[in-house]
Amino acid sequence: MNILVINGPNLNLLGSREKDIYGNITLAELMIWLETSQIGIKHKFKFFQSNHEGEIIDTIQDERFWADGLIINPGAFTHYSYAIRDSISSVLIPTVEVHLSDINDREKFRKISVIKDVCIEQIYGQGKNSYLNGLKFLLEYLIDKK
Ligand code: DQA
Repeated sequence: MNILVINGPNLNLLGSREKDIYGNITLAELMIWLETSQIGIKHKFKFFQSNHEGEIIDTIQDERFWADGLIINPGAFTHYSYAIRDSISSVLIPTVEVHLSDINDREKFRKISVIKDVCIEQIYGQGKNSYLNGLKFLLEYLIDKK
């Protein structure tokens, strides 16, 4: 399977950003860990990070014929980007929304995800395992669908 992984704003600062919330792992380490995991190793990945909404939308559109599935951590865009939501629903790539932290147990604004409804699953609060479990869920969905 071809898996596109998109990370949104400020996730490039993982490893130095609010370590008490997001941990010590850098984004590069996290992506390598996912790609080389027991299930990851059997699949092809493309990774993209941006702090810009439009670049995230362009990537979703540009990769729509390549990607069988999408794992996205939209960062703060989760809570208000109708444009990213629309891009996911426009391209029909099965998508899992992931978050390192427990967005339901932080500030009130983080409890709202405008992306959730257009995703097949939302996984949060498991640190790097949110990505791994997101990948597992996505692959099971894609294999079932075949
Ligand atoms: C996050 C949670 C968001 O609320 C926040 O804006 C982020 C990271 C997470 O992975 O826990 O940037 O998506």
